[in-house]
Amino acid sequence: MGTLTILTILTTLRFLVPMLISCVNSSSTPRRPARLGTAACAQFREHHVFSYDLRSRLAPGQWSRCYKECNGPHQSPIDIRLNSVQCMESGEEESPIYVWYRRHHGYARGSFLNNGHSCAFSTHNGDVRTYGKVLRNVPGQEGADYVFSELHFHIGANGSRSGSEHRINGKGFRGEIHMVHWKKTEELRTYEKGSEATDGLVAIGIFFNVVRRCHTEADRLILKYVYHARRYEAVKDPAFANPSLLLPADGMFYTYKGSKTTPPCNTNIIWIVYNTPTTICHRSYRILMALQSAEIGHPFLRTFGNDRPIQSKGTNNVQANFLRCD
Ligand SMILES: *[C@@H]1O[C@H](CO)[C@@H](O)[C@H](O)[C@H]1NC(C)=O
Ligand SMILES: [Zn+2]
Repeated sequence: MGTLTILTILTTLRFLVPMLISCVNSSSTPRRPARLGTAACAQFREHHVFSYDLRSRLAPGQWSRCYKECNGPHQSPIDIRLNSVQCMESGEEESPIYVWYRRHHGYARGSFLNNGHSCAFSTHNGDVRTYGKVLRNVPGQEGADYVFSELHFHIGANGSRSGSEHRINGKGFRGEIHMVHWKKTEELRTYEKGSEATDGLVAIGIFFNVVRRCHTEADRLILKYVYHARRYEAVKDPAFANPSLLLPADGMFYTYKGSKTTPPCNTNIIWIVYNTPTTICHRSYRILMALQSAEIGHPFLRTFGNDRPIQSKGTNNVQANFLRCD
């Protein structure tokens, strides 16, 4: 998100992260972190500093000390409890609501950046008209265009079997792919504008398992691009991604209103979480685990993972597109 500005920010980040963690290492009671001053917080926010290390002052449970919304309602990820999932009205249609991309065969042009929390593909904003992929038929937003803008991966620590952020009936998967889209209207013509609006963002979550054979679009992206951006702050540019190829073929999904799973945890996001996992191969998975992170000393991403714990505050109204109301 906002990759171009992030790029300039990241150089400063390098100095701030050790600053952030150094207090922790010298503390004898790491689970009761020292106070965080407003000045320090302002700096962290400005440079988008946060951590997945549980001993850090900005561990996932502590993000709200500097990013207020992270402690608010409607936070993601959630555990989708099947007995409370609701049916979906699908209007005149006999069949469930499916989402689809315009320009099914088209690739979005962008670049991969290892931002220290993930290796993320972002589209080049200027290329939206020619290369942009537009998501259609989002539940409750029929007729609206959502421009594909970002893609990244989440995994757990040390090869965890449940490194996905979302869960279904308590069950996690090896990891999760996220694809972010912003709403395009006459007034909203950029990611920043779109993301400020109500229902301005759609995030798609796709679980993955790890298998022997490398053959999915996710494998292609990891082996061809992510591999070359393993180092913290490394960029692989240009890169081409086709999110249409990542959507599970059966099209079954859950949807609810939630938040970004990273600070600042803003809550105007329509989530679409697919029921059926895709796969990546062992080679791809090892590449994700070995990404250099933004944590102190830049350990591999696998040391702490990049999966935010389940957020249970407040209730979320989850619907499934494969459960019809009548
Ligand atoms: C993963 O393993 C490393 C090295 O053994 C350890 O330092 C780290 O705390 C582990 N992470 C978690 C979340 O258990
Ligand atoms: Zn994500």
